[in-house]
Amino acid sequence: MLDITTTPNPSPRSDADLAAVLAAPGFGTHFTDHMLTTEWTPGDGWHDARITAYGPLSLDPATAVLHYAQEIFEGMKAYRHADGSVWTFRPFENAERMVRSSARLALPQLPAEDFVHAVDSLVAVDERWVPSLGEDSLYLRPFMFASEAFLGVRPSQHVTFMVIASPAGAYFKGGIKPLSLWLTEEYTRAGRGGMGAAKTGGNYASSLVAQQEAIAHGCDQVVFLDSAEGRYVEELGGMNMYFLYADGRIVTPETGTILEGITRSAIIELAQKLGHPVEERKFSIEEWREGIRSGEITEVFACGTAAVVTPVGRLEWDGGSVEGRSEPGELTMALRQQLVDIQFGRADDTFGWMHRVL
Ligand code: PLP
Ligand code: COI
Repeated sequence: MLDITTTPNPSPRSDADLAAVLAAPGFGTHFTDHMLTTEWTPGDGWHDARITAYGPLSLDPATAVLHYAQEIFEGMKAYRHADGSVWTFRPFENAERMVRSSARLALPQLPAEDFVHAVDSLVAVDERWVPSLGEDSLYLRPFMFASEAFLGVRPSQHVTFMVIASPAGAYFKGGIKPLSLWLTEEYTRAGRGGMGAAKTGGNYASSLVAQQEAIAHGCDQVVFLDSAEGRYVEELGGMNMYFLYADGRIVTPETGTILEGITRSAIIELAQKLGHPVEERKFSIEEWREGIRSGEITEVFACGTAAVVTPVGRLEWDGGSVEGRSEPGELTMALRQQLVDIQFGRADDTFGWMHRVL
């Protein structure tokens, strides 16, 4: 297990400042008093794990990640329950996904127990930053990057793993209302043999121009199709997708080139428990358009750690659109409620998903 030393921040945020942040946390703009860092070299493995004051890094301009994007990350949340206890949701799933991402990016493995211990330790030190308001939570961002100063193209021989934390309110401003989606037919997110299944910065970098295109067309988010045929729905820039049929079936795109969401698999289990058969398979864009037009598809929604569960309405593409729902669907909202009730300790954790930190 990682041996973590803690050097407390000598000037932590004042109670008054913290209260102001927690009153309106937004997403990803405020950071806690501390950060966790540990480094890896081939000779020493993971070493020098430390929690120190949050602050800027000093990097050599030749640091490999800045040039070749050898980087991976995770996204998870800590939730405060009504009794004051603090929990994370399926953290070993994030840890194992990071191990899979590290294999794809030729980065060293951080054992799952070390990952969870690192995250728990930072949450414990910054406990006062875990919100207690509504559905606000502490967003946790573990990440690993090539920190060797070397311009040759090969796996870095010095790697840094860090965890930072940021209080989070709703990811989408303006409450729970259906997102409008722009279907990009020009850009794809991942190809066969590519990095689509890994949580790596490059996938998000490549999504930005498509997201800009979505915004330019007045849509909220972009939806990607497979790169081979430009026909099968993959996912949004940061969320997995579901389609509910009038007969109760739910279809969600199969994995391979998409990110295997931890919320995704939880939603599959919750939906099955409610009696909805779930098909994980290829789902074509024609099926979506036709299903909305005929009324066979009754709800479309997306999910992810940051966005939780979000209804989807209008789908637009170059030369056309289908309307979809203007209000959140019943099952969408029921699944969302069940998920957050488990996360916030208001419902029995029958799946054993919650991990107590404090
Ligand atoms: N797909 C992408 C591209 C994502 O960035 C995310 C967010 O993490 C997801 C799906 C959903 O994954 P998870 O439910 O593990 O947050
Ligand atoms: C998450 O949901 O944790 C994500 O990583 C999505 C986005 C913020 C990148």
